[in-house]
Amino acid sequence: MAEINLEKIYASFLLRLEEVNNVNELSSIEKDYLGKSSVLSEERAKLSSLSNEDKKRYGADLKNFSDEVLKKLTQFKLDFEKAFYIEKEIAENPDISINWHSKEGSRKHVLTSVMEEVVDIFASLGYTVAYGPEAETSWHNFDALNTPDWHPARYESDTLYLDKDLSSLLRTQTSTVQVRHMQENDPPVYIVAPGRVYRSDQLDATHSPVFHQIEGLAVDDGITFSDLKGTLEYFVKAFFGTSVKTKFIPHFFPFTEPSAEVLVSWKDGEWLEILGCGMVDPNVFKNVKYPESTQGFAFGVGVERLAMLRYGIDHIKNFYENDLRFLDQF
Ligand code: DAH
Repeated sequence: MAEINLEKIYASFLLRLEEVNNVNELSSIEKDYLGKSSVLSEERAKLSSLSNEDKKRYGADLKNFSDEVLKKLTQFKLDFEKAFYIEKEIAENPDISINWHSKEGSRKHVLTSVMEEVVDIFASLGYTVAYGPEAETSWHNFDALNTPDWHPARYESDTLYLDKDLSSLLRTQTSTVQVRHMQENDPPVYIVAPGRVYRSDQLDATHSPVFHQIEGLAVDDGITFSDLKGTLEYFVKAFFGTSVKTKFIPHFFPFTEPSAEVLVSWKDGEWLEILGCGMVDPNVFKNVKYPESTQGFAFGVGVERLAMLRYGIDHIKNFYENDLRFLDQF
């Protein structure tokens, strides 16, 4: 008896599967390959006319074939239905969540990067970061910092008060963090305090009613003005480059004595002011209940100023307008 080529039949079965579009078609394939009038049944019917030996061998081949076809059909049906329902679900439930992560990548605002860079420079000298509230008491913002009633900074024209009796305000300087930190911590203190400050200023090329400062405070045994100079010179060179020169000129701040302004040498030989500093006034130490003999220095630097100088930005409003053509440059 001529035996049929089962491999060929299996290959044709696989081809039929490839063309399936609808799960119902699977039952007709099953019928064609395993049903009563299938080639397989016809061959099975012929088994009785074979010798015992051939019957055993060919019978086993036919059995393997039908097992394989059944296994393949079952798996195919599962996969087909799964794919069908996934597709249906996607079609019926469009994903309406916002893709928060821009494909172009996000980046830090230039003011954030500058603040982080300054903090990193001081962190490398052993300073830690401290924060304070933006809505402050007038005591922390002025009185504790040795700024008396008559001082012009306390006038309403300079300060955004939060109540009628002028006892709370939007802080005008990050120096408030000095006070808060010393109230909570004993010396030695080495902190930098980055943050937002508010003044009743009109917007012009170099002033904004909201801007950023970084305050610094070092309190330790035997700290002198030389430590202040060395620290700030190191900072200026780390930030602007080693060729930049610094100049300290006398100034007045209520909370430091003596006080100075630091100027840096600029391209056209100009000297530009970048920060205020000085030795902490003993009255400030008294207000935070530190011993009379305490010594330390403090400084305050404007973040916008640093960024404007370094990148040659001519108007402070650029930082706040969120114009991508500006922001993309950093
Ligand atoms: N708080 C001052 C300001 O806003 C800046 C400043 C000057 C801070 C001198 C200091 C300092 O700590 O010693 O203008």
